[in-house]
Amino acid sequence: MAFDRYGRRINYLRISLTDHCNLRCVYCMPEDIRFQPNAELMQDAEILRLVRLFVGLGFVKFRLTGGEPTVRAGVVELVRAMASVPGVRSLSITTNGILFSRLAGPLAQAGLQRVNFSLDTLDPFKFQSMTRRGEIEDVWEGIAAAERAGLAPIKINSVVMRYYNLQDVVELARLTIEHPWQVRFIEMMPFASSTDFWLDQGVTAEQIKTVIESEYGALESLNDGNLDGEARLFRIPKSCGEIGFIATVSQPFCASCTRVRLTADGRLRLCLLREKEVDLLRPMRAGASDQELRHLIQQGIWEKPWGHQLAKGEIPLNRAMSQIGG
Ligand code: 5AD
Ligand code: SF4
Repeated sequence: MAFDRYGRRINYLRISLTDHCNLRCVYCMPEDIRFQPNAELMQDAEILRLVRLFVGLGFVKFRLTGGEPTVRAGVVELVRAMASVPGVRSLSITTNGILFSRLAGPLAQAGLQRVNFSLDTLDPFKFQSMTRRGEIEDVWEGIAAAERAGLAPIKINSVVMRYYNLQDVVELARLTIEHPWQVRFIEMMPFASSTDFWLDQGVTAEQIKTVIESEYGALESLNDGNLDGEARLFRIPKSCGEIGFIATVSQPFCASCTRVRLTADGRLRLCLLREKEVDLLRPMRAGASDQELRHLIQQGIWEKPWGHQLAKGEIPLNRAMSQIGG
């Protein structure tokens, strides 16, 4: 099993399959971003070798992220191979949904269990301007396909920005009245290129909740008010879905963190919001043994930072969100 020096048991790995993306969300990447060449990214066999090593260290939960994981060539076969590794108990994906209508069925058959969609507004025009190119209709088709394929429960993640979509949370929350979905509102986080944006546009989960309650009245607290993963859950009375708030910035949940991340170029990122990373890909390509790689992973996890230091003004500058995976 893998523990850090604060006694947290780490058993959840988020793997970025690529830093490439078919959208350009304004808070995530600049319009003219340069992606990394494929040769610098982990190849399928390298990812699978690392997955086996992490399973050997007691990891049970895996999530595929990006950039946009579905733009990676061969993603279905990769999922099939990962799902068949004994010990991989939970396998899910976070996607913008654009390509999901034709991938949902094959991914579910390959062993994918769940999917989180990123969707920040229900307004087709605003969607286009926030993503700088997306058609919201593609996302709806992706969500419908995920439902048909049994990838339940469907979760929808919305990053909220004051001057873009703070008012849109009312319509997003309304989805939970008729759909058994979990709609989760995420506080925007600052990264190198988005720091100014964050200062200008960041809102807290509490502010988002206030906007929703001004429309639907007081939300019912679920789960005895305890965190479910990283989200605090609520419900509009009598609705069939749930509303979650992920207050990464204003109410950090670092004490109960169980996760580390693998960047698309094979670095173990110990905390999303801290710069510290351990390179696994270069040693692997230089011929490191399983034993050596396991040691690097364990040592890295042991040194996982306690949590973010945003309150002290320490903002991670070495990478964009799309390179780390959300
Ligand atoms: N703050 C919070 N969430 C972000 N995401 C991308 N950039 C940011 C940011 N700066 C989210 C995406 C997606 C997930 C992968 O990460 O919207 O839901
Ligand atoms: Fe792509 Fe997701 Fe970043 Fe949007 S937030 S540009 S969909 S990686």
